[in-house]
Amino acid sequence: MVNSAYIDQVEKRSLELGAPTFEKFNDGNNTIKWDEEAERQWKLHPPETTQFFDKNVYELCNKKSVKTVMDVGCGTGLLIYSLPKGKKYIGVDQNNTMLSYAKMRTEQVYGSATQILKSPITDISTGYPDLLGTIDRLVTFTVLQHNHLRTTSKALEDFYKLLSPKGELLLLEGTLNPETYTKEICQKYRHPEIDFDTEIGAVSGGYFTVNGWKAFLAAHDFEVINYIKESTLFHVRKVNG
Ligand SMILES: C[S@@+](CC[C@H](N)C(=O)[O-])C[C@H]1O[C@@H](n2cnc3c(N)ncnc32)[C@H](O)[C@@H]1O
Repeated sequence: MVNSAYIDQVEKRSLELGAPTFEKFNDGNNTIKWDEEAERQWKLHPPETTQFFDKNVYELCNKKSVKTVMDVGCGTGLLIYSLPKGKKYIGVDQNNTMLSYAKMRTEQVYGSATQILKSPITDISTGYPDLLGTIDRLVTFTVLQHNHLRTTSKALEDFYKLLSPKGELLLLEGTLNPETYTKEICQKYRHPEIDFDTEIGAVSGGYFTVNGWKAFLAAHDFEVINYIKESTLFHVRKVNG
């Protein structure tokens, strides 16, 4: 059960912090042009693209019990280089240019055990009900951070339904670390300073502190098994899995 009172509280705190809402963030000069981004990402190849994917994703998916891996917000399918052999790969995105590159790349690298689906991150189980409860690893890399808090919340609800009982979420999203989120950055972006021990608020449409992510995930019945600081990767499981 999603703790909606908590989501309301995070939204309120986030606004108190003066964080721009996603809509504001996206209205300004920060709007991301996904078609252009697709052209840029299509030109990327290993080894430079696989540094963190390799170390973490390969290991976390390299188990016999892991049969199906879903890459939500797959972009041009860069994750495929780091997938252990013998899995079924499902890439999901809503941008057509990303989708056509992802199809080419994943088929070239991994062959026919790949499927590319078009969907917003909030509605995958509605669009593809056959996938309910079938995903052993659901990976989201730099996707939720581009979405509003409410969209992220809905997406997490959907991920819970898609994951198999022992399924796990690998989440690498914008995360505020004391090391990187310095006083200078607070001043530059006119954000208030963050209390990293207690802060739960979101900043810039989805950037949480580590504790913020943990609490937000808990409000969606997920618990963090491990947090890998160097890449800000959260390894997460269902509480009642
Ligand atoms: C920065 S790219 C990351 C691509 C890939 N995960 C990677 O790490 O190489 C973000 C991707 O998320 C997709 N995306 C963002 N918000 C989305 C949403 N609400 N529904 C579906 N796709 C979304 C974009 O289309 C884009 O392809």
